[in-house]
Amino acid sequence: MSLIRQHVNLQSLNTFGIEAFCEHFVEIHSVQDFQHLLQEPIYRNSAKLILGGGSNVLFTQDFKGLVIKNVMKGIEIVGEEEGHVLVKASAGEVWHDFVLWCIEHQLNGLENLSLIPGCVGASPMQNIGAYGVEIKDVFERLEACSMENGEMRVFHKADCDFGYRESVFKHVYKNKFLICSVTFRLSKKPLPNTSYGAILTELDKLGIQSPSAKDVSEAVMRIRRSKLPDPKVMGNAGSFFKNPEVPSEKYIQLKETHPNLVAYALANGHYKLAAGWLIEHCGLKGFEHKGAAVHQLQALVLVNKQQARGNDVLELSSMVMKKVFDTFGVQLEREVNIV
Ligand code: FAD
Ligand code: EPU
Repeated sequence: MSLIRQHVNLQSLNTFGIEAFCEHFVEIHSVQDFQHLLQEPIYRNSAKLILGGGSNVLFTQDFKGLVIKNVMKGIEIVGEEEGHVLVKASAGEVWHDFVLWCIEHQLNGLENLSLIPGCVGASPMQNIGAYGVEIKDVFERLEACSMENGEMRVFHKADCDFGYRESVFKHVYKNKFLICSVTFRLSKKPLPNTSYGAILTELDKLGIQSPSAKDVSEAVMRIRRSKLPDPKVMGNAGSFFKNPEVPSEKYIQLKETHPNLVAYALANGHYKLAAGWLIEHCGLKGFEHKGAAVHQLQALVLVNKQQARGNDVLELSSMVMKKVFDTFGVQLEREVNIV
């Protein structure tokens, strides 16, 4: 049974690098570990928070309860069909290491998601996505353990209700399940996805015309390193807000007054606006509030510039939301989980 520790500082366990303490803390190495934990009085009597790599959370206060860090490890091939391989990864595997493992084993489909921080277990939570791919595109199923009675349950794609940065685990099943493993359906054949313009530009620079999965991964990593701050250097949680969706009338109205507006047409006739563009065009790039700031290179990212408290970042996010609303009449929504 894993050791439950008391009064643990979570500063090194969240990529914002925010100091916050939890009352109790435990690492879970296996499903059996978790099922034992369920019997503990501390578990039964405490509020609970699951943590993976802490790269999508903002602590605004100490957590009065039990933090459960999922460190379950293991990657295995669990099935093979014509053209595809099913690969199961345990929740505590580091996401980027898993992506590299797949590339090494000539299993294709995750390369566009290279270098996203965090663990495999959190990837379905918000259906992580980048550079033209979301995990729903390669998701087969996941196994999760009920937080109430420890029973295992399998969720297939249709059960997860994946959307843009959305799944059932953020809503109906919030805090109801500990995700233990995720199985992906990966292609044996290379299917390079270069639909995101910047990838082709980067491949061009490298002089590559017929990219392998490894080349696409390399291009994605170069793009990411050029604009996203490294949490080890400056605390952050990636995009702080979602890119907002607006009806076409709103898009047309904004486009008339702001011809350079960056937006993408969606299948439902609505438009997705680049929130980074909106924030930048409110003059907020580099704007600082207490220890927090809007990142200089990517305005969608809020950073812990100088020993910020979680509330400094939260206040800054409210200021950004107000300014964007007052300027463009567009309501931003936070993407990061606020604790
Ligand atoms: P955590 O932050 O630990 O947890 C996130 C949420 O999931 C919490 O609510 C937590 O309770 C829950 N959770 C975690 N593990 C489990 C589990 N096993 N079972 C049940 N619930 C669980 N995201 C993207 O989608 N695309 C990007 O391109 C991207 N780029 C980023 C770049 C940077 C520099 C950073 C810092 C973040 C970026 N992110 C991006 C956000 C983040 O990396 C992802 O959301 C990631 O999946 C979070 O993983 P994590 O393990 O750190 O989750
Ligand atoms: N832009 C600006 N100014 C900025 C930032 C962006 O004008 O400061 C404009 C640029 O014109 C750019 C466009 O916005 O062409 C889109 O920018 P970018 O390609 O950097 O992507 P994004 O929409 O800002 C989204 C995701 C990222 C993901 C990238 C790549 C969301 C909320 N964010 O960012 O995910 O890596 O696309 O696919 O959807 C995350 O979720 O944490 C995250 C980093």
